Amino acid sequence: MTLRRSLILGGGAAAIVGAGTVQALDREVGSLDAYTVAVAGMRAAWKRTSEVDELIRYATLAPSGHNTQPWIFRVTDHRIEILPDFARRTPAVDPDDHHLFVSLGCAAETLALASAAAGRPGEIRFEPAGGGSVVFESIPAAASRSALVDAIPRRQSTRGEYDGRAVGAADLRALATAAAVPGVELVLITDRPGKGRIRDLVIEGNTAQMADAAFLRELRSWMRFSPREAIRTGDGLFSATTGNPILPQWLGKRVFDLAFRSAAENDKYSRQVASSAGLAVFVGQSTDPQHWVSVGRAAQRFALQATALGLKTAFLNPLVEVPRTRLELAELVGMKGQRPDLMLRFGTGPALPYSARRPIRQIMSGATPHA
Ligand SMILES: Cc1cc2nc3c(=O)[nH]c(=O)nc-3n(C[C@H](O)[C@H](O)[C@H](O)COP(=O)(O)O)c2cc1C
Repeated sequence: MTLRRSLILGGGAAAIVGAGTVQALDREVGSLDAYTVAVAGMRAAWKRTSEVDELIRYATLAPSGHNTQPWIFRVTDHRIEILPDFARRTPAVDPDDHHLFVSLGCAAETLALASAAAGRPGEIRFEPAGGGSVVFESIPAAASRSALVDAIPRRQSTRGEYDGRAVGAADLRALATAAAVPGVELVLITDRPGKGRIRDLVIEGNTAQMADAAFLRELRSWMRFSPREAIRTGDGLFSATTGNPILPQWLGKRVFDLAFRSAAENDKYSRQVASSAGLAVFVGQSTDPQHWVSVGRAAQRFALQATALGLKTAFLNPLVEVPRTRLELAELVGMKGQRPDLMLRFGTGPALPYSARRPIRQIMSGATPHA
């Protein structure tokens, strides 16, 4: 897609751009087609080999908060360690690194599924030493190929509206079974009044976040408004993946400051909740990094199973990120005193462009950090 086709911002923005500069801006923005080709390479179907680079590439297709990819992989004989990359923290939205460890759990589960299918099954373990890490260790066992593996490159956080269709009881059972990880409880909400109460909490949480300058500053720093910037960094939230127009990075930041308002976001969230078949709330047994990793594993298994069933999922986390709404959610799901960790919505709807990933060489232990 060119800039001309994607810039649908009306007179004000057209005046900022100026007719004579459109070609130069086209070059600056890059093309959505080139982006799609690059991302398709990152997500290429797996070669079904236990080659370590290939397993790690698959692991990085896991979701992460703001697409920060806060992981470093260290490989030794029978172990692949996934270390937290604290340089990629998001302290405003995630002050205690909860989402960071959840993201490591998502990557570890993806790695384990791929490795088992490649004939090298293994176990995932949390190691508390040195700030905490996740270890995947091969064990002698029969290879097992889970149906979830094929869903790894097809899963995405689909942030559009869904079509409101319900999910049948058998599929709900399959989702709950796939997400069964020790130490994590799953609550599914599919009834209209329940969804209405969740919608109100999402709106309350989002309104609080939109009034928080540090939250907005941090979110903006992870926004990628152009295909060129999204490919250059290989991380962050590319506007096309949320159904928003593509723009030069500098202009996108200005539009973000001028046009990102809580009323419009809250309307969008209302429609997203109403159009979803249901909501899945994940609650870890304890509030510590070990359980946050387990929550990530459960959520990733849920999302992969949903993908295998032809369903879409998206995280909807303002209500677990804001302490007040998190408490209210705990009461709503009958778990007062516990910490609801994550919420995913699910349903049927069209796909959006996929998000990018950083190359393997940047995420291996000893790699030079990318600017
Ligand atoms: C712990 C965690 C929290 C997240 N919170 C949100 C969220 O509140 N809203 C949202 O739209 N996406 C959220 N995401 C999704 C990420 O933004 C997404 O995984 C990332 O951009 C990569 O895109 P992908 O999932 O399509 O591969 C979250 C992901 C994780 C792992």
